[in-house]
Amino acid sequence: MRSININENYFSIVHEVSKVLSRQNNIKDAFKSILKLLYSYLDIPASFIALYNPIENTLEIKESFGLLKKEKYKGVFKVGEGTVGSVFKNEIPAVIYDPKENKSFLNKMGVLNRFDFEVVFIGTVIKIGGERLGVLGVYKEKTRNLSYENEIKLLSMISILIGFAQKMNEKLEFQKRTFEEEKEILLNKIEFKTSIKEIIGVSKQINNLKNTILKVVNVDSTVLLEGESGTGKSLVAKVIHKLSNRGKEAFVGINCASIPENLLEAELFGYEKGAFSGAISQKKGKFEIADKGTIFLDEIGDTPLSLQGKLLSVIQEKEFSRLGSLETISVDVRIIAATNKKLFELVKEGRFREDLYYRLNVIPIKIPPLVERKEDIPILIDYFLKLFNEKYNKNIQLSKEALIELINYNWPGNVRELENILERLVVMNDQMIHINHLPAYIFQKVSLRRYELDNLNDKNLPSQIQNIEKKHIEMALKETGFVKSKAARLLNLTLRQLDYRIHKYNIRLQK
Ligand SMILES: Nc1ncnc2c1ncn2[C@@H]1O[C@H](COP(=O)(O)OP(=O)(O)OP(=O)(O)O)[C@@H](O)[C@H]1O
Ligand SMILES: [Mg+2]
Repeated sequence: MRSININENYFSIVHEVSKVLSRQNNIKDAFKSILKLLYSYLDIPASFIALYNPIENTLEIKESFGLLKKEKYKGVFKVGEGTVGSVFKNEIPAVIYDPKENKSFLNKMGVLNRFDFEVVFIGTVIKIGGERLGVLGVYKEKTRNLSYENEIKLLSMISILIGFAQKMNEKLEFQKRTFEEEKEILLNKIEFKTSIKEIIGVSKQINNLKNTILKVVNVDSTVLLEGESGTGKSLVAKVIHKLSNRGKEAFVGINCASIPENLLEAELFGYEKGAFSGAISQKKGKFEIADKGTIFLDEIGDTPLSLQGKLLSVIQEKEFSRLGSLETISVDVRIIAATNKKLFELVKEGRFREDLYYRLNVIPIKIPPLVERKEDIPILIDYFLKLFNEKYNKNIQLSKEALIELINYNWPGNVRELENILERLVVMNDQMIHINHLPAYIFQKVSLRRYELDNLNDKNLPSQIQNIEKKHIEMALKETGFVKSKAARLLNLTLRQLDYRIHKYNIRLQK
C-alpha cells in the first residue's frame, strides 16, 4: 500500500484555520490571520486573497501577507486575465513553476522582483455552493520536489473554508442592512415635528441662518450645508424638508462615510436580484425611496471618487438605473448635502470632483461652530434644561458660576456636546448644578483661572475639585474598560496628561 506522506503541519494548519474562522467575528482580521498561518506553518512568504467584484467584473486583492501596500493595490485582475484571472474563470487550480519566465504570469504587483530565491506561484479558486467568490494566491519557495499535489489539495481545502466564511459574512451584512433600511422607512413614516422654532439661538449667525432657510424652502435648488460636527446640519436639513412643499413626502438620509465603498453605490441606486453575490433580492435605492421628497446626502465629502461621476449625472439628469439593470428610472427629488469638511479644500486636493462641487454648491449654508457664537450658549442651555427637566420629571437649575464655565468652554463637539452634557447633568443631579458637578474636562480650565475661583469664596473648593477630578478619571477608566487612550479621549486629555493625573491621584488600574 502506498504510504501517505502528508506533513503533520497540514493537519495543524487546517485545524488552526478553522479555529480562526470560528473565533474571529471580523472577516478582515480572520483573513489576515489565515495568511499569517500559511507563513508560520508552510513557509509561504507572500500570499493574498482576491475577491470577485461583480459590479466591475474584476478580482481585487482584499487581504495580503508579505505584500507592500502599493503592491496590494495593484492587484486587480479582469476575469480570465493572467494566472489569477484564469484560475477564477476556469475554476482549476494552477501551479506556475517559473513565474519569472512564464508569459501568462503577469506579475502585476511586481512582487517577484523582491524574492532572492526561486518561487512557484499556486492559485486556487475560492468557491462555495457552485458560486465562485475569488482566488487564494501564494508564492512559495521552489523545492526539489516537482509535484505540488499536496499543497494544492491543502490550499483548496483552505479556500473552501475561506469561501464559507466570506459567504456567511455577506449574508449577515445583507441582513443587517435590510433591517436598518426597514427601520429607517418606518421612522420616516412617523411624522417628525420640526419647525424653524426648533433652531435655537439669538446670534446674528443663527438669525441669518433662519432667514436663509425661509428663502430656500420652496425652491428646489440643491443646498450644501457646511459646518463642524454637531453644529446642527442634520437638524437644518430636516427643517428645510419639513417646511418645503415636499414636507409630507419622504426625507431619506444616507451617510456617505459610514457605508463601505462597494455597498454605497448599491445603497444609493438600488440593485436587481443577482447583480452581485449577496444581492439575493431586488432592492430600491435611496434615490428611488426619496422620490417626490428630499434626499439628504450626509458627509458628502467622503463619497469615493469612483462614485462621484455617477452622482453628478444623477443630479444633472435626475435619472439613473439600478445595478444590474439597463432600465432608466427617473425621480423627482430635492438634494440637500452636508459636510463637516471644507469641501473646496477637498477639491483642491483632488479628492472631490470640481464639477460635482459646483453642482452641489448652488445654495451654500455655513453653520458656524458654537465658539463663534457664544451668545447662543445660555439660551441653548435654557432650552435643553427645560427639555430634560420635562423628560426626567425634574426641576434642576444651573448656578451662575457653572453657567460662566459652560460659556467659557470651547465646545469642540458643538451643540451635540452641550445637549449631551446637560442631559447627563439633569440625570445625575437632584439639586442645583454647581461648578463641581461639571465634567472634569470643562473644569480643568477652571483650575487655571484661579481668580474666578477665588471669587467664589469657598476655601475648600480646590480639594473638592481634585476629588471630583479623581472621580471623573476613575469613571472614565471604568467606562472604557481601563483602556487609557480611550479614557483620555473621553476626558479631552492627552494620554500624557491622563497618565500624570493617574499618578498624582494614585489611581489603581485594574483589568
Ligand atoms: N441651533 C440648534 N438648536 C437646537 N438644537 C440644536 C441646534 N443645533 C444642533 N442642535 C441639536 O444638536 C444635536 C446635533 O445636531 P445635528 O445632528 O443636526 O448636527 P450635525 O451638524 O448634523 O452633526 P454631524 O456632523 O456629526 O452629523 C441634535 O440633537 C440637534 O437637534
Ligand atoms: Mg448630522
